[in-house]
Amino acid sequence: MEGFNYGTVATIIRGLCINTIEYPWVVVESLPEEKEVPPEALTVDIVAAGAYDSSDEDTLVKILREAFAAWAFEMAPAGVEAAVKSSISKKLPSCVAVKEGDKVEVFFWIDRDIDAARNRIAERNGTLLEEKNAPLPRGSQTASAEMHAARRANVARNKIALVTGGAQGVGEEIVRGLAVSGALVFIADVNAGESEDLAKKINALEKRTAAIGLNVDVSDEASVEAMFESVAKTAGGLDICVSNAGILKAGGILEQDLASFKNVTDVNYTGFFLVSKYAGILLRRQHFVAAHWKTDIIQINSKSGLEGSYKNGAYAGGKFGGIGLIESFALELVNYNIKVNAICPGNFFDAPLWSDPEKGLFIQYLRAGKVPGAKTTADIRAHYEAKVPMKRGCTGADVLRALYYIIEQEYETGQAVPVTGGQVMLH
Ligand SMILES: NC(=O)c1ccc[n+]([C@@H]2O[C@H](COP(=O)([O-])OP(=O)(O)OC[C@H]3O[C@@H](n4cnc5c(N)ncnc54)[C@H](O)[C@@H]3O)[C@@H](O)[C@H]2O)c1
Repeated sequence: MEGFNYGTVATIIRGLCINTIEYPWVVVESLPEEKEVPPEALTVDIVAAGAYDSSDEDTLVKILREAFAAWAFEMAPAGVEAAVKSSISKKLPSCVAVKEGDKVEVFFWIDRDIDAARNRIAERNGTLLEEKNAPLPRGSQTASAEMHAARRANVARNKIALVTGGAQGVGEEIVRGLAVSGALVFIADVNAGESEDLAKKINALEKRTAAIGLNVDVSDEASVEAMFESVAKTAGGLDICVSNAGILKAGGILEQDLASFKNVTDVNYTGFFLVSKYAGILLRRQHFVAAHWKTDIIQINSKSGLEGSYKNGAYAGGKFGGIGLIESFALELVNYNIKVNAICPGNFFDAPLWSDPEKGLFIQYLRAGKVPGAKTTADIRAHYEAKVPMKRGCTGADVLRALYYIIEQEYETGQAVPVTGGQVMLH
């Protein structure tokens, strides 16, 4: 059908599922090479019912909500009084076929996780879904003891998450932690090869589809919009959006050229605006159907978003600006049950940004003689560790603890949570 974005339809269907079973399942789009509609499927002709364009979301929501209710009523046990019948049925169709006239345009397959939904597609298995809760995720013993310590049972289980800049460094740690916690994680990175490789490794460890690689440049609006569309078509929606992609190009105010300042700002500041905008549009759509469902946009900010950073103004300015954005977006998106918060980690001395033997900050600072008396990169590291009251750098597990706290805490938004070992204290 022309004028239809099926990602929009998928997200509305996922919202209806969440509403019915109070649990976040996936909705996977498949185009109809298949011949027949399974007998138990919910079939709806959205054009005949009055939706001519996917931008008319109100009409789409109304049509799909009514179709779900009528289907559940039909599927309810016979012989029960009509009035009770509609209120007792908590069943979901495993397949929604969207038709125009006699022609099926698209199928949406519903199940507890993406592998189960993909199996349904392969087998054309339309049997009813009545299961209330998904089993614990498999393969969840693969994390380090430290990561396990950071896991709050169930906060991310079966949720759909997206992590920008997830292919390495801090983002990779977050991706691995969320996967271990039972989420389906989209790894969205400008380095598409790396995000796909990481997804393969995680899926092998977790023995399920726990991660999917995606390509995005967060500073490019069309790319960000396409990324969220792809998430909607692949899994039906989103629960946790982690805006982590960021770059650092140090330079003093008297030396830094405008191009380098703009580059840092485009990725760290404008990129967060774009990711929040399109995540917000998707999450609000889900909210229109599942109004009680709480979702999260979480920015990985920095301790440099809380205090100035010497000869690093472009980075600190963008991160300070990020705090202004989360506070402002939080005020607006709270109306759709979307929480917007930031995590402000201290330095990750083990991440490539610091430890890369060729380009890392330790080797750069050693060459530049930034730390008087330092003879090796280990001396530089010791110097920076000594600045932290807790005498060590930040780790992925430290950030994950904050991330799970933010998701679990339903009564907070517009906050920046420092994770700095006491290095930066709030004023
Ligand atoms: N490393 C630290 O010490 C530290 C401390 C505090 C906060 N942070 C923050 O954590 C985040 C990640 O930092 P990191 O140290 O892991 O960096 P990193 O350079 O190791 O990884 C960043 C990732 O983002 C990707 N990326 C870069 N530009 C992108 C773009 N335009 N679109 C999509 N992806 C892009 C890269 O390909 C890479 O995979 C950043 O926001 C950074 O400010 C880092």
